[in-house]
Amino acid sequence: MTTRIPIPLIIVLTLMTTNCSSNSREFGKTPSGESVELYTLKNAKGAEAAISTYGGVVVSLKVPDRAGVLGDIVLGFDDFKGYLLPPPYFGALIGRYGNRIAHAKFTLDGVEYKLAKNDGDNTLHGGTRGFDKVIWKAKPGDGQSLELTYLSKDGEEGFPGNLSVTVVYSLTDNNELKIDYTATTDKNTVLNLTNHSYFNLAGQGEGDILAHQLTLNADRYTPVDKGLIPTGELRSVDGTPFDFRQPHAIGERIGSSDEQIVLGGGYDHNFILNRAGDVLSLAAKVTEAKSGRVLEVLTTEPAIQFYTGNFLDGTIHGKGGKVYGRRSAFCLETQHYPDSPNHPAFPSTELKPGATYHTTTVFRFSTGS
Ligand code: GLA
Repeated sequence: MTTRIPIPLIIVLTLMTTNCSSNSREFGKTPSGESVELYTLKNAKGAEAAISTYGGVVVSLKVPDRAGVLGDIVLGFDDFKGYLLPPPYFGALIGRYGNRIAHAKFTLDGVEYKLAKNDGDNTLHGGTRGFDKVIWKAKPGDGQSLELTYLSKDGEEGFPGNLSVTVVYSLTDNNELKIDYTATTDKNTVLNLTNHSYFNLAGQGEGDILAHQLTLNADRYTPVDKGLIPTGELRSVDGTPFDFRQPHAIGERIGSSDEQIVLGGGYDHNFILNRAGDVLSLAAKVTEAKSGRVLEVLTTEPAIQFYTGNFLDGTIHGKGGKVYGRRSAFCLETQHYPDSPNHPAFPSTELKPGATYHTTTVFRFSTGS
């Protein structure tokens, strides 16, 4: 016996299925009229990550607290227009070169390349129109992953080589947001890709992060000058406010008169990770007592920039109208050392034709007591 399904019901069912599998919506339009999509990834545990094709921005990241209640733990904007304002780089993919390049220039193979000065005399986060401000081409996976690709043309923002970049975001059933970065070039070039999410494990807009406890797997860091450019020294954290080898509250020593803390206006420094080779290993762990949320950061990168939102000043109103005050979030940007192209002694950030750049970073969420 065959059951007849009425035609209107078939239409409704088809629409519902289409909706479920598409998991995307228009987020907004750029001033030049390009459409920006927002993709939502969901895992079996109900965690959610929303990612925009503009800047590859992680717009929201909802993970459970110890009672199982989901909370959005990254800063950002409900309205796409927020991302067009001068950047704090909320949630964005950063390239071609994350962090700073001194005096906005570097020499490669005897040729001097000039970049944009968008941070005093220096280049920050790829220049005037870095990867945080371009539209990435999206290819959704199984509802739990999203592949973003971008071709950065030879000479874009002053960097040599046509650079073909692929970033894959995956939200695993283990409540991990995994980011895989791959790139190839047709000319020798330099690159340093990262993601600039601002975390507050108590929930975005829920006060400052000074009571969060941080552990960093780093014996050394790179002290900076007043432009936040590494001096070249690799300094031991021993006996300094930079020693997070055992857990410390982020705020415990942030008011210290240590010259480096003063220069950074808090923490805004590159920590050199203790590691054996390029394998994925634990770089940082952050816990927040009230929510019970725990973040572990694993990476194949040699370093991590720990930034405590020192430049946030309450003028930005983010998601749900929340006011983002000073130190209302922290960033853990996995990366190579800042200004490496001008420091031959630092691990190289060069990429040559024929080679493939590949790095992985995992933000793993769990809850503790
Ligand atoms: C990075 C830098 C900071 C600041 C932020 C963006 O983390 O190290 O100095 O520029 O980006 O505001």
